[in-house]
Amino acid sequence: MGIPASSRRGALPNAPELPAHGWSTDETLERLEALRATDVRWKEGRAFSLAYLATPAAHELATEAYRRFSGENALNVEAFPSLRAMQSDVLAIASRWLAAPESARGFFTSGGTESILMAVKSARGQFRAAGITQPNMVLPTSAHAAFHKAAAYFDVELRLVPVCSETWHADPQAMAKASDANTILFVASAPQYPQGVVDPVADIAAIAAERGVNCHVDACMGGVTLPYLQRLGVPLPAWNFVVDGVTSMSVDLHKFGYTAKGASVIMYRNAELRSHQGFVTDNWLGGMYGSSGALGTKSGGPIAAAWAVLHHLGDDGYEALTRSARDTTLAIAAAINADSRLVLRATPDATLLSFGAATPELNIYAVADGLAARGWYVDRQAPPPSIHLTVNAIHAQTHHEFLADLAATLEGVSGAGSATGAGSASSAGTYGTLE
Ligand SMILES: Cc1ncc(COP(=O)(O)O)c(C=O)c1O
Repeated sequence: MGIPASSRRGALPNAPELPAHGWSTDETLERLEALRATDVRWKEGRAFSLAYLATPAAHELATEAYRRFSGENALNVEAFPSLRAMQSDVLAIASRWLAAPESARGFFTSGGTESILMAVKSARGQFRAAGITQPNMVLPTSAHAAFHKAAAYFDVELRLVPVCSETWHADPQAMAKASDANTILFVASAPQYPQGVVDPVADIAAIAAERGVNCHVDACMGGVTLPYLQRLGVPLPAWNFVVDGVTSMSVDLHKFGYTAKGASVIMYRNAELRSHQGFVTDNWLGGMYGSSGALGTKSGGPIAAAWAVLHHLGDDGYEALTRSARDTTLAIAAAINADSRLVLRATPDATLLSFGAATPELNIYAVADGLAARGWYVDRQAPPPSIHLTVNAIHAQTHHEFLADLAATLEGVSGAGSATGAGSASSAGTYGTLE
């Protein structure tokens, strides 16, 4: 018997309801698979955003490790020492990528957004203790939207500074001018998402250090890739803890670490900085409660998957994957440069790039629509109107087809009048659950 109609308050007449009798495993899985029928085919390299694939074997391993630890809870690692051990191994590996000093301490988090939220919360806590009650942070307009979220959540004023018009780099001098005695944090990205360039971290960190405040480097995208690019001889500015004034960094494992979703690291230069992140209370009826980050209950799934994938791919695996993603990025960038209808926004420093229309006659969002019709998922961004590609290892297999489809799409949409075509920008982060 289902729930009586009189109790189904607020439900629309045709709204789905809990089945009166549970479905079998097979039927449930069949229905789950049916639900994904129109999802982008990311495992086939059709998504230049949101999803990453190193190898089918690494993906299967992540899925299996996740399955085995999905019910374990990292809220209390006293009960699950396995999760303590895995997190500490992962942090040790990440700290080498970031060239963190021995004094560095971090936490495993659920993603780039949580890592950034925590860096801002920690800075706020640290400087509140020093008497700053109306804090602000200074960041380039290219810094990720998660900093805007942090500003809103933690009531830290956001001081946005335009990037350099030619290069898209953060402008350190303009950032210095935007700061004042209430500035607690400067932000740089390695690389920034929109155009894929690495900010002048050393200059920004020097300004922060001179003022005795924090500098966070958002390496959510580049934290795994940049160390290998450096090893491969790609010229890059200093971007990590090698720079003295850098006080914290974020690196996402669920991006170019190629592990399951829900995996990032926030790393602080020392334990004192990290001490402002956690939350503890005993002022309720449930006794002592503490948690390291934004989450309470924290699945062991992403932690086990990250531990497994990192060890499975290994140092040589990440080097090969980075080389492959980088070569593909450069091949796509060269094709865009060679097409007079398109303009590459910046020479990519890592494995992210964006491009727009070279003339007003071409609507770049109509190009994105054409690519979508051919089964490709790309991000649309503005300003200026652009297509964004996050290139990862899987695209080595698919970029020739992508470029052929891009050329065919351009033939179709570059006629007169397309600037008023159907294409429109859409945010990469539309709400997932509320309609
Ligand atoms: C540079 C950068 N920082 C932070 C984030 C946020 O990461 P997440 O979506 O894992 O919260 C992203 C996401 O694309 C990013 O590109």
